[in-house]
Amino acid sequence: MKKLIYRLPTHLFEIFAVEFNGYGFEILNRNKDGTTFVIYAEESEEEAIKEAVNEIFNELGAGELVGEEVIPEENWVDKWKEDIKPIKIPPFIVLPEWEIYEGKDFIPIKIKIGMAFGTGLHPTTQMVLKLLPEYISKGDTVLDVGTGTGILSIAAAKLGASKVIGIDIDEMAIKECKDNSWENEVNVECIKGEPKDIKEKFDIVIANLEIKIFRNLFKDIVKLFKKYLILSGIFKPAEKEEILKMAKENNLKLITELSQPESDEKLSDIWFAFVFCRK
Ligand SMILES: C[S@@+](CC[C@H](N)C(=O)[O-])C[C@H]1O[C@@H](n2cnc3c(N)ncnc32)[C@H](O)[C@@H]1O
Repeated sequence: MKKLIYRLPTHLFEIFAVEFNGYGFEILNRNKDGTTFVIYAEESEEEAIKEAVNEIFNELGAGELVGEEVIPEENWVDKWKEDIKPIKIPPFIVLPEWEIYEGKDFIPIKIKIGMAFGTGLHPTTQMVLKLLPEYISKGDTVLDVGTGTGILSIAAAKLGASKVIGIDIDEMAIKECKDNSWENEVNVECIKGEPKDIKEKFDIVIANLEIKIFRNLFKDIVKLFKKYLILSGIFKPAEKEEILKMAKENNLKLITELSQPESDEKLSDIWFAFVFCRK
């Protein structure tokens, strides 16, 4: 990238700006005598820009190039990658796809950067990741409702679940769930659908959704679990009261409750996750 610095008598600058319509420029300095401005040019367009400016300067009978600077290109992809760090949520470590985990202390889950929800950054996902080791036993069958990237399904499979199905209504999530399962070398069936489409029952059902979705789907979800129902995505005490009421009406017993604030800056924005069994 080149920074081309030009100077032109101020009374001609407005005419130049109109003529030069279409390209961007930045004014560095302007007083009654002269205006100094910068045009940023990619290498491929530098010559064309210089020619276009010179043509206008010739018509105006004034204006000159007073400086040129090369701006070093940032490698944006590498820079962006530097900002995405592995997240430890014991016993798991969630990694971007390009990271290699060589340690032995954590169970790695690799997630491709995509569009679906479930990078491991959100408290609702993190709480479920914390709960899974306690409630999933080797050989359990697991249904993950609203699988997103497939992160919770992959975690369940890595804990030894014998069969894991992740469902989502979003086509993109299903693609990412499949890609991520492949990347993590686990067997997760990623299916487009809703709880009412599922005809079998599972030892464990996980659902990280939202209260407005639970309002509609709670009964359908409850039908599908045998041992434990793990729910997340409940925000603030009012939603907690509402979900506990739904659980009571459906004869569920609360076994565990977790809470986590949205972030260190938003300590009063609390998310809740719950584990229920049947009464
Ligand atoms: C909060 S994200 C959870 C993603 C991931 N399981 C996690 O914990 O990070 C909720 C997901 O539920 C999906 N979803 C919304 N309504 C749904 C429904 N009726 N049936 C199945 N999935 C649904 C959304 O598309 C979204 O991917």
